Amino acid sequence: MFSSNWLLVVLVTFLVTPLSRGQLTPSFSPSATLSPSSSPSALLDAGEPSASASASATAPPNPDRNKYFHEPGGDDLLHHYDARFFQRIVTDEERKDTLRHLIRAYFLTFEYLGLETWIAHGTLLAWYWNGKILPWDWDLDTQVTDQGLKLLAKHYNQTYYDYEEGDGQSKRRYYLDVNPWAWQRDRGDGANIIDARFISVDNGLFVDITGLSEVYPDTEPGIIMCKNNHRYRLRDIFPLRHTYFEGVKAKVPFSYVPILTEEYSDAALVRTEFQEHRWDANSREWLKIPKDQDVVKEEGGSKRGVSMKDDGAYA
Ligand SMILES: *[C@@H]1O[C@H](CO)[C@@H](O)[C@H](O)[C@H]1NC(C)=O
Repeated sequence: MFSSNWLLVVLVTFLVTPLSRGQLTPSFSPSATLSPSSSPSALLDAGEPSASASASATAPPNPDRNKYFHEPGGDDLLHHYDARFFQRIVTDEERKDTLRHLIRAYFLTFEYLGLETWIAHGTLLAWYWNGKILPWDWDLDTQVTDQGLKLLAKHYNQTYYDYEEGDGQSKRRYYLDVNPWAWQRDRGDGANIIDARFISVDNGLFVDITGLSEVYPDTEPGIIMCKNNHRYRLRDIFPLRHTYFEGVKAKVPFSYVPILTEEYSDAALVRTEFQEHRWDANSREWLKIPKDQDVVKEEGGSKRGVSMKDDGAYA
């Protein structure tokens, strides 16, 4: 049960966690290791697993019981935040701003630590178009090797990183956390397919990091896969290509085209309309498609557009 003792533990760890790492013992349930957040929602969320644990004697196995990374909710609006740092649903502007700096900070940090990593999934598709995040993205994906994952877990688990743009804006802080289930290399119950996360402390948005390993070296040599059963030929990934993403040095798989077409279809590399956005070849940006009525306004001449807007504004 969610006892007051347990609450005390959470509050105490809140005070000490930023000072050092690894002082929480494995006897805590994974969700109890959360906590560098003072938000009440994180406390509530952390209470859930113990409740389900006590119910487990009678209830059927619940994959979420073993889940390490928690989100404040499972729906589209909530599953892109780490529960420990979630405070509120961010605006579109804050989301884009956070993700852009998040991926910059990620690559700068990994370069600084000397760890190899590269862009994956939807983030790779974003890079393919213009080396920037997609304006409708909610999270970011990267990959590392299983060796990289070991280094992350051994030396950098639960560490914080500060990042400054140098543009007078305030410092941003990030938290790197490695899933204890990172060693299980098959999909398992599916609750822990993300091996590590690089999280924005400000609002909980994150980079999902997955490790790739050769799971069946005897029967499938040269095939590396993540725990969500994405399979890659070693020679499609390596040697990694050096590139830039959001203005910082980054890496992508050697044969990114087959990787992208396999995951997203051939059409994804030529289709110029996605998610209410249209690719603009001149500016090399994804621009939001104006809503129907806006298009009509433009066709009817700018004057009419303006007067309609005025009507709306002053009605
Ligand atoms: C990372 O640290 C937390 C807290 O000590 C721990 O629960 C978790 O198992 C660690 N991850 C790995 C991969 O060792």
